[in-house]
Amino acid sequence: MSLEQLLAWIPPGSADLDLARQIQPDRLPQHVAIIMDGNGRWAGRRHLPRVEGHRAGIQSVRDVLETSARLGLGVLTLFAFSVENWKRPASEVSTLMMLLRRYLRSELATLLEHDIRFKVVGRVDGLAPEIRAELTDAERRTAANAGLLFNIALNYGGRTEIVDAARAAMAAGIAPEALDEDRFAQFLYTAGQPDPDLLIRTSGEMRVSNFLLWQIAYSEIYVTETYWPDFRRRDLLEAIVAYQKRDRRYGGIAPPVVAGVP
Ligand code: IPE
Ligand code: IPE
Ligand code: MG
Repeated sequence: MSLEQLLAWIPPGSADLDLARQIQPDRLPQHVAIIMDGNGRWAGRRHLPRVEGHRAGIQSVRDVLETSARLGLGVLTLFAFSVENWKRPASEVSTLMMLLRRYLRSELATLLEHDIRFKVVGRVDGLAPEIRAELTDAERRTAANAGLLFNIALNYGGRTEIVDAARAAMAAGIAPEALDEDRFAQFLYTAGQPDPDLLIRTSGEMRVSNFLLWQIAYSEIYVTETYWPDFRRRDLLEAIVAYQKRDRRYGGIAPPVVAGVP
């Protein structure tokens, strides 16, 4: 997959094509993580029940996933359900879980077609057995795929993940003096994956809501007012173009500006 692949997929004359052409293929983010937010408010604006926002958000997931795969991103992580989201009314939680199952069933063919590897990050043990079985099945059936890695964060909490990693490190018998940042990261749900380069949050909220706390240490943050059900290919491309204009310093200093070099 590559930028050419993406350009060939976008219909001629579409405004997205101009946007896609602004992307520098050699400076793509390796890992994009998204806090999909604003489903309830999207529905509220239309005088619909909140769950209609979740239902509508599935089309955004499809579009963003296919765009990411065609563009050639390495990892896409979508925050779908937090450890705190159990506080919501039981009917909303059960609809979310039902939509998740339905999504998995209907999208498995797409995952296979686009060479996408599927992985759940979060406390899987806390999910209902029938959901767990479908998640494990999707992971198993896509395990050999070598394209985009699609992480879905479910029953996920950043602090929970860090506690789980600490427990796993202790259980593995790691001596305290042998533990450093790289070793510790091997016990996170995202072991072996690059940290997100770009963290997107939809719906305008300026907070991270317990998402990937360890991994976003140096991620570039992009917040858009767009509600998740309205977020499409164009919005992802806009975020990537904005990301490519950022100056990532990692605590260092900006490189000198060379006259004549843009
Ligand atoms: C995001 O939309 C979806 C989940 C958290 C599952 P919300 O349901 O949080 O929608 P708002 O933020 O209330 O509008
Ligand atoms: C974050 O959204 C969690 C997910 C997107 C799954 P929330 O809607 O739960 O976050 P808060 O409550 O606004 O911080
Ligand atoms: Mg929300």
